[in-house]
Amino acid sequence: MIYLDNAATTIQKPEVVVEAVASAMRHMGNAGRGAHEVSLDSSRLIYDTRQQLAKLFGLEDPTGVAFTANSTAGLNIAIQGILNPGDHVISTAMEHNSVLRPLYRMQEQGIELTILPVDRLGNLCYEDMEREIRSTTKAIVCTHASNLTGNLIDLKRVGKIAAAHGVLLIVDASQSAGVFEINMSEMGIDVLCFTGHKSLLGPQGIGGICVKKGVEIRPLFVGGSGVHSYQKNHPARMPTALEAGTLNGHGIAGLHAARAYREEIGIGKMRERELALMQYFYEEIKDIPNVTVYGDFTVKMRAPIVTLNIGDYDSGEVADELALTYGIMTRAGAHCAPLLHEALGTKEQGAVRFSFAYSNTEAEVEEAIRAIRELAQDSGRSGPSKAAGNIQ
Ligand code: ALA
Repeated sequence: MIYLDNAATTIQKPEVVVEAVASAMRHMGNAGRGAHEVSLDSSRLIYDTRQQLAKLFGLEDPTGVAFTANSTAGLNIAIQGILNPGDHVISTAMEHNSVLRPLYRMQEQGIELTILPVDRLGNLCYEDMEREIRSTTKAIVCTHASNLTGNLIDLKRVGKIAAAHGVLLIVDASQSAGVFEINMSEMGIDVLCFTGHKSLLGPQGIGGICVKKGVEIRPLFVGGSGVHSYQKNHPARMPTALEAGTLNGHGIAGLHAARAYREEIGIGKMRERELALMQYFYEEIKDIPNVTVYGDFTVKMRAPIVTLNIGDYDSGEVADELALTYGIMTRAGAHCAPLLHEALGTKEQGAVRFSFAYSNTEAEVEEAIRAIRELAQDSGRSGPSKAAGNIQ
Protein backbone atom coordinates (compact mmCIF):
# COMPACT_ATOMS: atom_id res chain seq x y z
CA MET A 1 0.00 0.00 0.00
CA ILE A 2 1.13 3.53 -0.75
CA TYR A 3 -0.43 5.78 1.83
CA LEU A 4 -0.85 9.37 0.68
CA ASP A 5 -3.70 10.39 2.97
CA ASN A 6 -1.63 11.80 5.81
CA ALA A 7 -3.79 14.91 6.11
CA ALA A 8 -6.59 12.59 7.27
CA THR A 9 -4.31 10.80 9.72
CA THR A 10 -0.68 9.74 9.65
CA ILE A 11 -0.64 5.98 9.48
CA GLN A 12 2.99 5.20 10.12
CA LYS A 13 3.42 5.94 13.82
CA PRO A 14 6.85 5.71 15.44
CA GLU A 15 7.38 2.42 17.27
CA VAL A 16 8.00 4.36 20.52
CA VAL A 17 4.44 5.70 20.28
CA VAL A 18 2.94 2.24 19.84
CA GLU A 19 4.99 0.94 22.76
CA ALA A 20 4.03 3.86 24.99
CA VAL A 21 0.31 3.33 24.34
CA ALA A 22 0.60 -0.40 25.00
CA SER A 23 2.58 0.19 28.18
CA ALA A 24 0.05 2.79 29.40
CA MET A 25 -2.75 0.32 28.75
CA ARG A 26 -0.97 -2.14 30.99
CA HIS A 27 0.13 0.20 33.76
CA MET A 28 -1.58 3.58 33.76
CA GLY A 29 -3.75 4.70 36.65
CA ASN A 30 -6.31 7.51 36.59
CA ALA A 31 -4.62 10.90 36.92
CA GLY A 32 -5.91 13.12 39.72
CA ARG A 33 -8.15 10.38 41.10
CA GLY A 34 -5.85 8.85 43.71
CA ALA A 35 -2.70 9.31 45.77
CA HIS A 36 -1.30 5.88 44.98
CA GLU A 37 1.68 5.32 42.74
CA VAL A 38 0.04 4.53 39.42
CA SER A 39 -2.35 7.48 39.70
CA LEU A 40 0.52 9.83 40.55
CA ASP A 41 2.63 8.43 37.70
CA SER A 42 -0.22 9.14 35.34
CA SER A 43 -0.58 12.72 36.65
CA ARG A 44 3.14 13.30 36.19
CA LEU A 45 3.16 12.02 32.63
CA ILE A 46 0.12 14.10 31.76
CA TYR A 47 1.62 17.23 33.28
CA ASP A 48 4.87 16.59 31.45
CA THR A 49 2.92 16.34 28.18
CA ARG A 50 1.23 19.68 28.93
CA GLN A 51 4.69 21.16 29.40
CA GLN A 52 5.94 19.67 26.12
CA LEU A 53 2.97 21.06 24.22
CA ALA A 54 3.14 24.48 25.87
CA LYS A 55 6.79 24.67 24.82
CA LEU A 56 6.04 23.46 21.30
CA PHE A 57 3.28 26.04 20.80
CA GLY A 58 4.88 28.98 22.59
CA LEU A 59 2.39 29.11 25.45
CA GLU A 60 3.89 30.41 28.68
CA ASP A 61 1.77 28.51 31.19
CA PRO A 62 1.41 24.72 30.72
CA THR A 63 -1.80 24.71 32.75
CA GLY A 64 -3.33 26.48 29.74
CA VAL A 65 -3.17 23.18 27.81
CA ALA A 66 -6.37 21.13 28.22
CA PHE A 67 -6.72 17.74 26.57
CA THR A 68 -9.63 16.96 24.27
CA ALA A 69 -10.45 14.14 21.86
CA ASN A 70 -9.41 16.07 18.74
CA SER A 71 -9.38 19.54 17.13
CA THR A 72 -13.14 19.48 16.62
CA ALA A 73 -13.71 19.10 20.36
CA GLY A 74 -11.30 21.95 21.10
CA LEU A 75 -12.91 24.20 18.51
CA ASN A 76 -16.39 23.49 19.87
CA ILE A 77 -15.19 24.32 23.37
CA ALA A 78 -13.61 27.57 22.18
CA ILE A 79 -16.35 28.75 19.83
CA GLN A 80 -19.30 27.83 22.03
CA GLY A 81 -17.53 28.86 25.21
CA ILE A 82 -16.30 32.29 24.17
CA LEU A 83 -19.01 33.73 21.95
CA ASN A 84 -22.26 35.30 23.13
CA PRO A 85 -25.37 36.47 21.27
CA GLY A 86 -24.67 39.84 19.68
CA ASP A 87 -20.95 39.11 19.15
CA HIS A 88 -19.57 39.41 15.65
CA VAL A 89 -17.06 36.82 14.40
CA ILE A 90 -14.85 36.71 11.34
CA SER A 91 -13.92 33.41 9.75
CA THR A 92 -12.87 32.26 6.30
CA ALA A 93 -13.96 30.18 3.33
CA MET A 94 -10.87 28.02 3.96
CA GLU A 95 -12.39 26.42 7.04
CA HIS A 96 -13.20 22.83 7.81
CA ASN A 97 -16.65 21.98 9.19
CA SER A 98 -15.02 21.68 12.62
CA VAL A 99 -14.94 25.48 12.58
CA LEU A 100 -17.94 26.19 10.38
CA ARG A 101 -20.56 24.03 12.10
CA PRO A 102 -19.92 25.36 15.63
CA LEU A 103 -20.05 28.86 14.13
CA TYR A 104 -23.32 28.13 12.34
CA ARG A 105 -24.74 26.77 15.59
CA MET A 106 -23.73 29.97 17.37
CA GLN A 107 -25.24 31.98 14.52
CA GLU A 108 -28.58 30.35 15.34
CA GLN A 109 -28.06 31.62 18.89
CA GLY A 110 -27.52 35.19 17.77
CA ILE A 111 -23.89 35.77 16.82
CA GLU A 112 -23.15 37.59 13.58
CA LEU A 113 -20.79 35.84 11.22
CA THR A 114 -18.67 37.18 8.39
CA ILE A 115 -17.00 34.62 6.14
CA LEU A 116 -14.07 36.03 4.17
CA PRO A 117 -13.92 34.78 0.59
CA VAL A 118 -10.81 33.42 -1.16
CA ASP A 119 -9.31 34.20 -4.54
CA ARG A 120 -8.94 31.65 -7.36
CA LEU A 121 -5.82 30.16 -5.75
CA GLY A 122 -7.68 29.71 -2.49
CA ASN A 123 -5.98 32.58 -0.64
CA LEU A 124 -7.45 35.22 1.67
CA CYS A 125 -7.28 38.96 1.32
CA TYR A 126 -5.94 40.27 4.65
CA GLU A 127 -7.05 43.84 3.93
CA ASP A 128 -10.62 42.52 3.72
CA MET A 129 -10.17 40.89 7.10
CA GLU A 130 -9.22 44.17 8.73
CA ARG A 131 -12.02 46.04 6.91
CA GLU A 132 -14.61 43.61 8.27
CA ILE A 133 -13.78 44.29 11.92
CA ARG A 134 -16.63 46.05 13.77
CA SER A 135 -17.03 47.39 17.29
CA THR A 136 -18.84 44.12 18.18
CA THR A 137 -16.21 41.80 16.70
CA LYS A 138 -15.16 39.37 19.41
CA ALA A 139 -12.96 36.93 17.54
CA ILE A 140 -11.30 35.83 14.33
CA VAL A 141 -11.50 32.06 13.93
CA CYS A 142 -9.30 30.55 11.24
CA THR A 143 -7.29 27.58 10.20
CA HIS A 144 -3.50 27.63 9.95
CA ALA A 145 -3.44 25.40 6.85
CA SER A 146 -6.28 24.45 4.53
CA ASN A 147 -6.92 20.70 4.61
CA LEU A 148 -8.03 20.96 0.98
CA THR A 149 -5.35 23.02 -0.76
CA GLY A 150 -2.53 23.10 1.78
CA ASN A 151 -2.46 26.91 1.58
CA LEU A 152 -1.35 28.53 4.83
CA ILE A 153 -2.89 31.52 6.54
CA ASP A 154 -0.31 34.06 7.70
CA LEU A 155 -1.05 33.81 11.41
CA LYS A 156 1.44 36.47 12.39
CA ARG A 157 -0.36 38.92 10.15
CA VAL A 158 -3.79 37.88 11.42
CA GLY A 159 -2.51 38.05 14.99
CA LYS A 160 -1.40 41.64 14.41
CA ILE A 161 -4.80 42.57 13.00
CA ALA A 162 -6.55 40.89 15.95
CA ALA A 163 -4.30 42.55 18.52
CA ALA A 164 -4.66 45.99 16.92
CA HIS A 165 -8.44 45.78 17.33
CA GLY A 166 -8.62 43.93 20.66
CA VAL A 167 -10.11 40.86 19.00
CA LEU A 168 -9.38 37.26 20.04
CA LEU A 169 -7.62 34.94 17.61
CA ILE A 170 -8.76 31.30 17.69
CA VAL A 171 -6.76 28.94 15.45
CA ASP A 172 -7.40 25.48 14.06
CA ALA A 173 -3.95 23.91 13.79
CA SER A 174 -5.14 20.46 12.67
CA GLN A 175 -2.99 20.40 9.54
CA SER A 176 0.07 22.17 10.89
CA ALA A 177 0.69 21.22 14.53
CA GLY A 178 3.81 19.08 14.71
CA VAL A 179 5.76 20.15 11.63
CA PHE A 180 5.07 23.87 11.26
CA GLU A 181 6.37 26.49 13.67
CA ILE A 182 3.56 27.78 15.85
CA ASN A 183 4.28 30.27 18.59
CA MET A 184 1.15 31.52 20.29
CA SER A 185 2.79 34.49 21.96
CA GLU A 186 4.76 35.60 18.89
CA MET A 187 1.81 35.08 16.56
CA GLY A 188 -0.76 36.66 18.86
CA ILE A 189 -2.87 33.50 19.11
CA ASP A 190 -5.28 33.40 22.06
CA VAL A 191 -6.63 29.89 21.58
CA LEU A 192 -5.02 27.09 19.59
CA CYS A 193 -6.79 23.80 18.86
CA PHE A 194 -4.83 20.78 17.69
CA THR A 195 -5.18 17.09 17.08
CA GLY A 196 -2.58 14.53 18.05
CA HIS A 197 -2.97 11.96 15.28
CA LYS A 198 -1.72 13.88 12.25
CA SER A 199 1.71 15.54 12.12
CA LEU A 200 2.20 15.17 15.86
CA LEU A 201 2.34 11.41 15.11
CA GLY A 202 0.31 10.40 18.17
CA PRO A 203 -2.73 8.13 18.40
CA GLN A 204 -6.24 9.01 17.25
CA GLY A 205 -8.62 10.33 19.91
CA ILE A 206 -6.21 12.73 21.58
CA GLY A 207 -5.94 16.45 20.93
CA GLY A 208 -6.13 19.64 22.87
CA ILE A 209 -6.94 23.28 23.33
CA CYS A 210 -4.24 25.74 24.37
CA VAL A 211 -5.57 28.84 26.05
CA LYS A 212 -3.64 32.02 26.74
CA LYS A 213 -3.86 33.26 30.33
CA GLY A 214 -6.81 35.58 30.84
CA VAL A 215 -9.02 34.18 28.06
CA GLU A 216 -12.35 33.17 29.59
CA ILE A 217 -14.04 30.04 28.21
CA ARG A 218 -17.34 28.64 29.52
CA PRO A 219 -16.86 24.88 29.79
CA LEU A 220 -18.85 22.83 27.30
CA PHE A 221 -18.69 19.76 29.56
CA VAL A 222 -18.87 19.62 33.34
CA GLY A 223 -18.56 16.64 35.64
CA GLY A 224 -15.96 14.65 37.50
CA SER A 225 -12.67 16.42 37.95
CA GLY A 226 -11.10 14.68 40.93
CA VAL A 227 -11.13 17.96 42.93
CA HIS A 228 -13.76 20.01 44.83
CA SER A 229 -16.22 17.14 44.67
CA TYR A 230 -18.78 18.84 46.98
CA GLN A 231 -18.92 21.96 44.85
CA LYS A 232 -21.93 22.15 42.52
CA ASN A 233 -20.03 24.01 39.84
CA HIS A 234 -17.21 22.57 37.79
CA PRO A 235 -13.82 23.96 38.94
CA ALA A 236 -12.94 27.16 37.12
CA ARG A 237 -9.17 26.76 37.10
CA MET A 238 -7.34 25.59 34.00
CA PRO A 239 -6.80 22.95 32.85
CA THR A 240 -9.52 21.27 34.95
CA ALA A 241 -12.02 23.91 33.78
CA LEU A 242 -12.00 22.39 30.29
CA GLU A 243 -11.47 18.75 31.24
CA ALA A 244 -14.40 16.78 32.66
CA GLY A 245 -14.17 13.05 33.19
CA THR A 246 -11.23 10.69 32.85
CA LEU A 247 -8.68 11.86 30.31
CA ASN A 248 -7.47 9.74 27.42
CA GLY A 249 -4.32 8.89 29.34
CA HIS A 250 -3.33 6.15 26.89
CA GLY A 251 -3.52 8.63 24.03
CA ILE A 252 -1.59 11.23 26.01
CA ALA A 253 1.13 8.64 26.70
CA GLY A 254 1.43 8.06 22.94
CA LEU A 255 1.56 11.78 22.24
CA HIS A 256 4.19 12.19 24.93
CA ALA A 257 6.37 9.51 23.33
CA ALA A 258 6.03 11.06 19.87
CA ARG A 259 7.89 14.17 20.94
CA ALA A 260 11.19 12.36 21.38
CA TYR A 261 10.86 10.92 17.87
CA ARG A 262 9.98 14.29 16.30
CA GLU A 263 12.79 16.04 18.13
CA GLU A 264 15.34 13.44 17.21
CA ILE A 265 14.66 14.04 13.52
CA GLY A 266 13.87 17.73 13.93
CA ILE A 267 10.65 19.49 12.98
CA GLY A 268 12.43 21.49 10.29
CA LYS A 269 13.89 18.38 8.67
CA MET A 270 10.52 16.63 8.73
CA ARG A 271 8.82 19.60 7.13
CA GLU A 272 11.51 19.98 4.46
CA ARG A 273 11.20 16.35 3.45
CA GLU A 274 7.41 16.47 3.29
CA LEU A 275 7.55 19.64 1.21
CA ALA A 276 10.18 18.16 -1.09
CA LEU A 277 7.99 15.10 -1.74
CA MET A 278 4.99 17.36 -2.35
CA GLN A 279 6.98 19.60 -4.71
CA TYR A 280 8.31 16.63 -6.68
CA PHE A 281 4.79 15.27 -7.14
CA TYR A 282 3.41 18.70 -8.06
CA GLU A 283 6.13 19.49 -10.62
CA GLU A 284 5.62 16.16 -12.36
CA ILE A 285 1.81 16.23 -12.56
CA LYS A 286 0.99 19.92 -12.98
CA ASP A 287 1.41 20.02 -16.77
CA ILE A 288 -0.18 16.67 -17.57
CA PRO A 289 -3.06 17.33 -19.97
CA ASN A 290 -6.47 16.91 -18.29
CA VAL A 291 -5.05 17.45 -14.79
CA THR A 292 -6.21 20.46 -12.75
CA VAL A 293 -4.36 21.28 -9.53
CA TYR A 294 -5.90 23.50 -6.83
CA GLY A 295 -4.19 25.83 -4.38
CA ASP A 296 -1.25 28.20 -4.40
CA PHE A 297 2.10 26.69 -5.43
CA THR A 298 3.78 30.05 -6.03
CA VAL A 299 4.80 30.05 -2.37
CA LYS A 300 7.27 27.60 -0.89
CA MET A 301 5.71 27.45 2.57
CA ARG A 302 2.52 25.44 2.46
CA ALA A 303 1.18 22.24 3.94
CA PRO A 304 2.34 19.10 2.07
CA ILE A 305 -0.89 18.63 0.12
CA VAL A 306 -1.58 18.42 -3.62
CA THR A 307 -5.25 18.32 -4.59
CA LEU A 308 -6.30 17.70 -8.17
CA ASN A 309 -8.90 16.52 -10.60
CA ILE A 310 -8.58 14.59 -13.83
CA GLY A 311 -10.81 16.01 -16.55
CA ASP A 312 -14.35 16.10 -15.26
CA TYR A 313 -14.19 12.67 -13.68
CA ASP A 314 -15.77 12.08 -10.34
CA SER A 315 -13.07 12.44 -7.67
CA GLY A 316 -14.39 9.45 -5.73
CA GLU A 317 -14.05 7.22 -8.76
CA VAL A 318 -10.51 8.43 -9.41
CA ALA A 319 -9.59 7.73 -5.77
CA ASP A 320 -11.14 4.26 -6.05
CA GLU A 321 -9.14 3.60 -9.21
CA LEU A 322 -5.97 4.78 -7.46
CA ALA A 323 -6.66 2.47 -4.54
CA LEU A 324 -7.78 -0.60 -6.46
CA THR A 325 -5.42 -0.51 -9.44
CA TYR A 326 -2.36 1.14 -7.94
CA GLY A 327 -2.73 0.57 -4.18
CA ILE A 328 -2.52 4.32 -3.58
CA MET A 329 -4.65 5.73 -0.74
CA THR A 330 -5.90 9.30 -1.12
CA ARG A 331 -8.96 11.23 0.02
CA ALA A 332 -11.61 12.34 -2.46
CA GLY A 333 -14.92 14.18 -2.18
CA ALA A 334 -15.62 17.30 -0.16
CA HIS A 335 -13.05 16.94 2.65
CA CYS A 336 -15.49 18.60 5.11
CA ALA A 337 -14.49 21.90 3.47
CA PRO A 338 -17.69 22.95 1.69
CA LEU A 339 -17.01 26.67 1.23
CA LEU A 340 -13.60 26.15 -0.32
CA HIS A 341 -14.94 23.55 -2.75
CA GLU A 342 -17.66 26.01 -3.74
CA ALA A 343 -15.07 28.75 -4.23
CA LEU A 344 -12.82 26.51 -6.34
CA GLY A 345 -15.77 25.29 -8.43
CA THR A 346 -15.42 21.67 -7.31
CA LYS A 347 -18.69 21.26 -5.43
CA GLU A 348 -20.04 18.64 -7.84
CA GLN A 349 -16.82 16.88 -8.67
CA GLY A 350 -14.99 17.05 -5.37
CA ALA A 351 -11.23 16.61 -5.73
CA VAL A 352 -8.57 14.02 -5.08
CA ARG A 353 -6.17 14.94 -2.29
CA PHE A 354 -2.62 13.60 -1.99
CA SER A 355 -1.00 14.41 1.35
CA PHE A 356 2.57 13.53 2.23
CA ALA A 357 4.36 12.54 5.43
CA TYR A 358 7.99 12.23 6.46
CA SER A 359 7.70 8.45 6.18
CA ASN A 360 6.79 8.52 2.46
CA THR A 361 9.47 7.72 -0.09
CA GLU A 362 10.45 9.10 -3.50
CA ALA A 363 9.57 5.70 -4.99
CA GLU A 364 6.02 6.03 -3.67
CA VAL A 365 5.71 9.50 -5.15
CA GLU A 366 7.00 8.17 -8.49
CA GLU A 367 4.32 5.50 -8.45
CA ALA A 368 1.67 8.15 -7.77
CA ILE A 369 2.99 10.25 -10.66
CA ARG A 370 2.83 7.23 -12.96
CA ALA A 371 -0.74 6.52 -11.85
CA ILE A 372 -1.88 10.08 -12.54
CA ARG A 373 -0.21 10.04 -15.97
CA GLU A 374 -1.97 6.80 -16.89
CA LEU A 375 -5.35 7.84 -15.53
CA ALA A 376 -5.16 11.23 -17.25
CA GLN A 377 -4.29 9.52 -20.51
CA ASP A 378 -7.10 7.01 -20.08
CA SER A 379 -9.52 9.80 -19.33
CA GLY A 380 -9.16 10.85 -22.96
CA ARG A 381 -10.58 7.42 -23.87
CA SER A 382 -12.47 5.47 -21.20
CA GLY A 383 -11.72 5.60 -17.45
CA PRO A 384 -13.66 6.56 -14.37
CA SER A 385 -17.12 8.01 -14.91
CA LYS A 386 -17.97 11.69 -14.91
CA ALA A 387 -18.85 13.58 -11.76
CA ALA A 388 -22.35 12.62 -10.70
CA GLY A 389 -22.71 15.45 -8.22
CA ASN A 390 -23.32 13.22 -5.23
CA ILE A 391 -20.31 14.29 -3.17
CA GLN A 392 -20.58 13.80 0.58
N1 ALA B 1 -9.94 16.63 8.64
C1 ALA B 1 -9.31 15.47 8.13
C2 ALA B 1 -9.07 15.53 6.66
O1 ALA B 1 -8.92 16.59 6.13
C3 ALA B 1 -9.93 14.20 8.57
O2 ALA B 1 -9.04 14.51 6.00
